[in-house]
Amino acid sequence: MSVILGIETSCDETSASVLEGSGDFVEQKSLVILSQDIHRVFGGVVPEIASRAHLTSIVPVVDRALAEAGRRLDEVDAIAVTYAPGLIGALLVGVSYAKALGFARGIPVVPVHHMEGHLFATSLEHREAVPPFTALLVSGGHTMLLDVERWGRYRLLGVTRDDAAGEAFDKVAKLLGLPYPGGTHIEALARGGTPGRYNFTRPMLRRTDAPGDPDYFAFSFSGLKTAVLNAVKSSGDGDRADIARDFQDAIVETLVEKTLRAANAYARTRVVLGGGVACNDALQDAMRARLGAEGASVFAPSPRLATDNAAMIARAGLYRFERGEQAGTDLNAYATRPLPGLQAA
Ligand code: KG4
Ligand code: ZN
Repeated sequence: MSVILGIETSCDETSASVLEGSGDFVEQKSLVILSQDIHRVFGGVVPEIASRAHLTSIVPVVDRALAEAGRRLDEVDAIAVTYAPGLIGALLVGVSYAKALGFARGIPVVPVHHMEGHLFATSLEHREAVPPFTALLVSGGHTMLLDVERWGRYRLLGVTRDDAAGEAFDKVAKLLGLPYPGGTHIEALARGGTPGRYNFTRPMLRRTDAPGDPDYFAFSFSGLKTAVLNAVKSSGDGDRADIARDFQDAIVETLVEKTLRAANAYARTRVVLGGGVACNDALQDAMRARLGAEGASVFAPSPRLATDNAAMIARAGLYRFERGEQAGTDLNAYATRPLPGLQAA
C-alpha cells in the first residue's frame, strides 16, 4: 500500500490530491482543484497569467489536499507530478515544487504524462474501467483515440489533424457569442435546438472508409468550425440554438463512429472516455446507445475527474511508482512529449 500525493499544473487548474492503495485498488482520500477564473476575462488561457496564478496557489492547494486526507508529508511515499504536455511555464511551477518538496523531505518524485492521467481517471470511479479497453480522450488541447491493451501499453490509433474537439467547442462558442470555456454553454444551447436544419458534414466520416485508410481513425474539426461560421453569417440570431445543436451532433457522431471502429478493430467490450468534452451528456448518451447496441460498456468520469485534476495524476503516478519509476533532480517540464508506452498501431 502506498500513499501518493499528486500535483497538476499543466494548464489553468492548480490541483493536488492524495490517494492510497496498490494495483487497481485505490482510494481517493482528497482532491483539491483551484480553477483560475481570471482567463474568462480574456476568452482563453493566458499562459503568463496561468504560471503566476499557479505560483500563488500551489502551496495552499497542496497543504489543503494533505489536510483533507489527514496525512502529513512524511507519510507520503511518492509525489506524482505532471511534467508534460502543457503550458511550459505552468508545468514548471508544479515540477519545481514537487522536486523541491521531494528533495527536502527525501520523497521520490514520479513524473506523469498528463494524457496518461486522463486514461486512468475513470478507473477511480468505475472498477471496470481497467484494460483492455478502447479510450477516447477529448479535451481542450487533445483528441486521442487509443487502444489500451494493459496499463502502460498504448496504441495511438487516431489524433486530430487540426483543432482538438474541446477547442472546436470553444471556438464555435465564441462564434455564437457564448462565454469561455464554451463546451457546457454549447451543450445547454443545443438542448433547445431543432436537429437537422444545418446538417453539417460529419468531419472525416465517410461510409466508404475502410480499415487501413489513413483517415479511418483520424479527426479534423477546423472545417466544421468554418461551416458554422458561414451558417452564423447567413442566419438570423434565432438560429443559434439550431446551429449549436447541429454542430454538437456532427462532432458527437464522428467521435462515436470512430470509437466504434476502434473497439471493433481490437474486439474490445469496454470503452473509456476522458477529458473535459467527456462531460457532454449528448456524447455520453450517443456513445452508450451506439456502443451498447454492439455489446460494449461505456465508462465516463464525473466532471471533476473528466477535467484537469491531480487525482488522475496521482493514480497514473501510483502505477509508474509501483514499476520503480522515479525522477532525478534533473527532471524538466516539456510542452510536448509523446505518451509513454506507445506501441506501433
Ligand atoms: O480536459 P480539460 O479540462 O482541459 C484540457 O486538458 O484541455 O478540457 C477542457 C475542454 C474545454 O474545451 C471545454 O469547452 C470542454 O472541455 N468541455 C466540454 C464540456 N465541458 C467541458 N465540451 C463539450 N461539452 C461539455 N459539456
Ligand atoms: Zn487535460
